[in-house]
Amino acid sequence: MIFPLVLSCLSWILIHAQVHDDIVECNEKIINQSQLNAMNINEQETFATTILHEYNLNLTTLAYITSSSEFESQLYLNDTNRRRTMEKYYEVYRNCLKSIATVARRFNKLITNENSSLYWLLQRTQAIGDAGENDPLIKLRLQKLKSHIKEIYHRKFIWNNTKLGIDEAQELLGKLNSPADLLSLWNATYEVAAPMRDYYSTLIAVQHEQAKQNRTNEKSDTPANLEERRIVEQLWQELKPLHELIHAYIRKQIARLYPGLIEFDQPIPVHLTKDLFGLMMTHLERDVLPFSHISGIDLGPAMKRKNFTEEEIFRYADEFFVSLNLTRAPDSFWNLSVFKRIPNHHMACHPTAFDLYKYDDVRIRMCTSITSRDFYIVHHEMGHIQHYLQYHQQPFWFRRSPHGAFSEGIGDAIALATMSPAHLKRIGLLENYKFTKEENIQFLLSQALTRLFLPPYAYALDIWRWSVYNGSIQPFEYNKRYWDLICRYQGMKPGMPRNERYFDAGTKLHVAFDLSYIKYFLAHVFQFQIFDVLCREAGYEGPLHLCDLHGSKAAGRKLKILLGLGSSKSWEDILEEFAGVRTFSAQPCLKYFQPLREYLEELVANDQLQVGWKCQSNRSSRKQFQMNFVGYIVILYSMFYFLLE
Ligand SMILES: *[C@@H]1O[C@H](CO)[C@@H](O)[C@H](O)[C@H]1NC(C)=O
Ligand SMILES: *[C@@H]1O[C@H](CO)[C@@H](O)[C@H](O)[C@H]1NC(C)=O
Ligand SMILES: *[C@@H]1O[C@H](CO)[C@@H](O)[C@H](O)[C@H]1NC(C)=O
Ligand SMILES: *[C@@H]1O[C@H](CO)[C@@H](O)[C@H](O)[C@H]1NC(C)=O
Ligand SMILES: *[C@@H]1O[C@H](CO)[C@@H](O)[C@H](O)[C@H]1NC(C)=O
Ligand SMILES: *[C@@H]1O[C@H](CO)[C@@H](O)[C@H](O)[C@H]1NC(C)=O
Ligand SMILES: *[C@@H]1O[C@H](CO)[C@@H](O)[C@H](O)[C@H]1NC(C)=O
Ligand SMILES: *[C@@H]1O[C@H](CO)[C@@H](O)[C@H](O)[C@H]1NC(C)=O
Ligand SMILES: *[C@@H]1O[C@H](CO)[C@@H](O)[C@H](O)[C@H]1NC(C)=O
Ligand SMILES: *[C@@H]1O[C@H](CO)[C@@H](O)[C@H](O)[C@H]1NC(C)=O
Ligand SMILES: *[C@@H]1O[C@H](CO)[C@@H](O)[C@H](O)[C@H]1NC(C)=O
Ligand SMILES: [Zn+2]
Repeated sequence: MIFPLVLSCLSWILIHAQVHDDIVECNEKIINQSQLNAMNINEQETFATTILHEYNLNLTTLAYITSSSEFESQLYLNDTNRRRTMEKYYEVYRNCLKSIATVARRFNKLITNENSSLYWLLQRTQAIGDAGENDPLIKLRLQKLKSHIKEIYHRKFIWNNTKLGIDEAQELLGKLNSPADLLSLWNATYEVAAPMRDYYSTLIAVQHEQAKQNRTNEKSDTPANLEERRIVEQLWQELKPLHELIHAYIRKQIARLYPGLIEFDQPIPVHLTKDLFGLMMTHLERDVLPFSHISGIDLGPAMKRKNFTEEEIFRYADEFFVSLNLTRAPDSFWNLSVFKRIPNHHMACHPTAFDLYKYDDVRIRMCTSITSRDFYIVHHEMGHIQHYLQYHQQPFWFRRSPHGAFSEGIGDAIALATMSPAHLKRIGLLENYKFTKEENIQFLLSQALTRLFLPPYAYALDIWRWSVYNGSIQPFEYNKRYWDLICRYQGMKPGMPRNERYFDAGTKLHVAFDLSYIKYFLAHVFQFQIFDVLCREAGYEGPLHLCDLHGSKAAGRKLKILLGLGSSKSWEDILEEFAGVRTFSAQPCLKYFQPLREYLEELVANDQLQVGWKCQSNRSSRKQFQMNFVGYIVILYSMFYFLLE
């Protein structure tokens, strides 16, 4: 899912590395530039092809050794020797990327010529992130700061006599019920990130120094980034009315569950969502779904009744891909992946899919539990695995997603298909489902709980990161401005007053690891677009949310286009080949949830649901007055509302 996943693009051990994988060399080839300049385009292409072929082999082996080492060291977080080995491999690997980038730029007749067959390949050799840093001082400072912040993120704390990390706290939060326990654990978890604050502001300052050397990153205001932000804003405007309706509904249900803790015109205290960030509310399902007389779609009890093991959930996902005539995960995947927490072991638990780049070696590391939430996350991670397997034949530089939204959206689209009531019924996890209107509304609400709260969170989080980077949010106001954005976009608030001693954004892995998050926003929109295309390809015509793709070879063929091309073309070109359009659209998402929207709009029309929330604002006094005025109307309205109830 989502949020899981994370290292999937750049992650790349030693115990499992094959004996003959010695560290290979990877040097900068000496090329006589005047000879090169004398060649015509065809001659340069032939020459470049030979060189890139050699680098492809060496880089693949280096990536294999490095990613094996990364996988291993995440399983033994306390082992500093393993970490040192991994860092050593990373160093060699980064230098290799950098040498290749330099050599590629020598082919000046090809790298700037869109007509050359090597244009995209040479362009992709340039996307090397931090490895391209030339200033050794900046490079060292960045590495130190980043590893320090990561170390803080992985720190453990004690709660109710139990040692927990952030990931484990998330898991436990879903099992608690009393608001006092929820708040207490939420509060203790947010304590972890507080020491990151100063390191983070230093990190931003060092990245600014890099920017002066013309080295931009995903937080910079480059034209491409600004264009992406424009698309995000537009998609958000389309999604907002639907989000507000569902927000209002969930708020009302939580208020019923915990009387007296929520007002009907106020944001939802985030700990009451049983999710650290209020972005995926699967754990609330059994408490907030309507029509409690019908049995519901909580898969946890059904899977437990059927004695599912962790590995079996992965087997179900694999079977699904096989039914579409896609690739079965190889034996090594089942032998080398880690599907559950290893006892008495300080290991990373954040669900992650690894491409090891060689021998078809792909793996997942996840501390799975037998719940609906993890059923979904497993399918998401298996989507990454299928992607790795499909683009395996591409040269190294194309073995990645052309856009973050692709890799993250594909797994989610598969999860949409496998969580369709029709499919769940087929595999025996939803035996009593009758496809009544009430059941469908209940199902769509559960899907909304899983998928519709991430976009506003992701948008708020990255606006915060972009604003910190461009200086419009300063260190002294990090926390306040974070919660302002959370209120504005998500309609949520902290469980208790926060102040600038904390660094609440850092509780999210992607801030602590300095990774972009907006791709999850786009992926959450894109997954419905992918699903819609696949359902049409499969010849399905009913309501989108009931489409089951199981066994459709036609859908499988279509999905291959999206997966197998890797990043060998621009994402717009791949999208066009797949969907016939060149940009992301929110319409399929709105179409999927349409029956739910109609149901909620009816509740609003009957005064059974109050939409919207107020955020505290520190505007000037005149504006403050207007705000209050608006506020009174809302308060009056809500009193009226109580009378009607
Ligand atoms: C690739 O690795 C081989 C074996 O280590 C080495 O002989 C060769 O020089 C390497 N090629 C490059 C371009 O570094
Ligand atoms: C590069 O090639 C040219 C032409 O073949 C030759 O004259 C020159 O000496 C070469 N330069 C180097 C540094 O080898
Ligand atoms: C690429 O090909 C197109 C059409 O064949 C031509 O118009 C264009 O000038 C070419 N571009 C370059 C840089 O050669
Ligand atoms: C705290 O731990 C005790 C003993 O393990 C357990 O019985 C209790 O349920 C826990 N409390 C909460 C709120 O989890
Ligand atoms: C929240 O955490 C702080 C710092 O750990 C602690 O002092 C405070 O008592 C906690 N409050 C609650 C309600 O758990
Ligand atoms: C950065 O780019 C600008 C504009 O392209 C150029 O003027 C400047 O010299 C570059 N600075 C460095 C350090 O390369
Ligand atoms: C699940 O395991 C329990 C205890 O081992 C056994 O009694 C039960 O029959 C099993 N259920 C299924 C569906 O296999
Ligand atoms: C299944 O996939 C194989 C290999 O990609 C292909 O040759 C075959 O035609 C596909 N079968 C169908 C029914 O599409
Ligand atoms: C996976 O494990 C099985 C059983 O332990 C073994 O027979 C098989 O050779 C292994 N396969 C791979 C690819 O490691
Ligand atoms: C890992 O290291 C931390 C601190 O460095 C220590 O508190 C913890 O007990 C260690 N865990 C294990 C399982 O060795
Ligand atoms: C900084 O970035 C934020 C978020 O993209 C934007 O709203 C703001 O206008 C930017 N400020 C400046 C000074 O560029
Ligand atoms: Zn993912």
